[in-house]
Amino acid sequence: MKQTAAIKLVEITRREEFSASHRLHDPSLSDEENVELYGACNNLYGHGHNYALEVCVRGEVPASGMVMDLNVLQGILAEEVVSKMDHKHLNHDVDFLQGLVTTAENIAIALYELLEPLINEHEGCELSCLRVYESAANFVEYRGASS
Ligand code: NI
Repeated sequence: MKQTAAIKLVEITRREEFSASHRLHDPSLSDEENVELYGACNNLYGHGHNYALEVCVRGEVPASGMVMDLNVLQGILAEEVVSKMDHKHLNHDVDFLQGLVTTAENIAIALYELLEPLINEHEGCELSCLRVYESAANFVEYRGASS
């Protein structure tokens, strides 16, 4: 009987939570246009969210039985994300968000681009999906740039 080598890709996910404030404001627009576009989210001194981040890593299961050690992934997220965003003002305190309107969409892209090389350097691992939750009901998902 002919054997074909099936590729069995498994996706693992780590979830982190953090609290932060932000303000949606586009400096290229007038104050009136910002209020019109962002409403209460344009409040001058910001407002807060209990954010959650989910990071999915895809790969085949090697001899260790682990696509990626989740403790290693946790360490990367603690050092690169949570320590830099928890209890911070995202518009002012976070270097990799400077110059961006701090919507969940833009945060997701920035975090994906920050984390992709750090995850993909682990053999057989590929960052496949990243989700940013602004609340339990509202979240965005990014799967990397399409070519
Ligand atoms: Ni908000």
